[in-house]
Amino acid sequence: MSSKESVRKILVVFGTRPEAIKMSPLVHELKKRPEFDVRVCVTGQHREMLDQVLDVFKITPDYDFSIMKKNQDLFDITTAVMNNMRGLLKELSPDLVLVHGDTTTAFVSALSAFYLQIPVGHVEAGLRTYDIYSPYPEEINRQGIGLLASFHFAPTETARKNLISEGKKPQNVYVTGNTVIDALKYTVQKEYNNPLFDWVGKDRLILITAHRRENIGDAMRTMFIAIHNILNDYDDVKAIYPVHLNPKVRELANEIFDGSDRIRLIEPLGVVDFHNFMDKAYMILTDSGGIQEEASSLGKPALVLRDTTERPEGIAAGTLKLVGTSTEKVYAACKSLLDDKNEYEKMSKSTNPYGNGQASKQIADIIEEKL
Ligand code: UD1
Ligand code: UDP
Repeated sequence: MSSKESVRKILVVFGTRPEAIKMSPLVHELKKRPEFDVRVCVTGQHREMLDQVLDVFKITPDYDFSIMKKNQDLFDITTAVMNNMRGLLKELSPDLVLVHGDTTTAFVSALSAFYLQIPVGHVEAGLRTYDIYSPYPEEINRQGIGLLASFHFAPTETARKNLISEGKKPQNVYVTGNTVIDALKYTVQKEYNNPLFDWVGKDRLILITAHRRENIGDAMRTMFIAIHNILNDYDDVKAIYPVHLNPKVRELANEIFDGSDRIRLIEPLGVVDFHNFMDKAYMILTDSGGIQEEASSLGKPALVLRDTTERPEGIAAGTLKLVGTSTEKVYAACKSLLDDKNEYEKMSKSTNPYGNGQASKQIADIIEEKL
């Protein structure tokens, strides 16, 4: 394929940290191929946390809507993305818009493309809890994109089955693995070190993240109290918590962990640092989506601080445990992993339900063939 007419214009859209981490390997793969004219649009739903990833993966966006506002709500994000997307899509008229996962950036961009009858490709398609408020609003964002997309790139067989059971045509659903594994191959380095590891010393390190909208408030408070109690009760355990930039999360973390010398609240880590901190950790406590996949693939026991998960593969494999957010349950699950060696060993097996790190290549091959 070499003639100018056959070059297909692809607009890759993302706006937050996790989308950037998982779309960057795909952007690089698509850009290698002369049959594609690849443009990258960031909505800027996140700013600092997005820019950290763009720096690491050396991606310079062609378009940046810079929409982020402090304490933005879902209406702010939705209207800002939509208003900006209309002009860009009309001007650029791409042959395909690629979105990722479940953010409001992804859903609204897919909806905008649909309004102009531009085909949408959905990367990381088919993850489901079938509980519309958990995760919120991500479950509906995902299902919504599923309705709009022409190409569904499902990371696993489970995700494919969800899509088929909803009536998607089998010929439009492709199991590709998850591009997060492509990213992990790039970031985890055996020789990695960090000055904070001296502070951890020989103690066992718990790595923490938390940001889910539905957890902000009481649920986050009760889970933080459990972690605080664990740190008081175990003198060979320390915690590092790179705190999400959401002001509501930061306020609560500062309040509960204030004065504790066994936990370090730090700024969000760059993705290379974060993946290597995961590798160093004894265990992980998180309500994140992507970290569940990374933990399964690195063989790091992770307690999922949520009531549901759209990533059942890691639970089935034994690396993840869904523990909810109550102080009692989170404390008991931590205690069990800290005290019971057998339990710890059982959860430490690396399984890789998310493919072999070739997801970007597979997705690019499919687009090349089908578009
Ligand atoms: C968003 C996504 C969520 C994803 C998460 C990844 C939606 C509805 N939510 O949630 O699916 O799991 O990103 O982290 O799409 N902020 C900054 N700088 C940044 C990033 C955030 O200051 O670089 C602050 C801002 O005050 C912002 C707030 O964090 O208003 C919340 O950001 P927002 O994108 O609305 O929600 P997240 O919880 O990050
Ligand atoms: N991550 C990071 N720095 C941090 C915390 C997380 O780079 O300080 C990475 C992590 O490795 C994963 C992604 O950010 O790839 C997850 O993002 P987040 O938890 O914000 O979003 P979710 O996956 O829940 O949508």
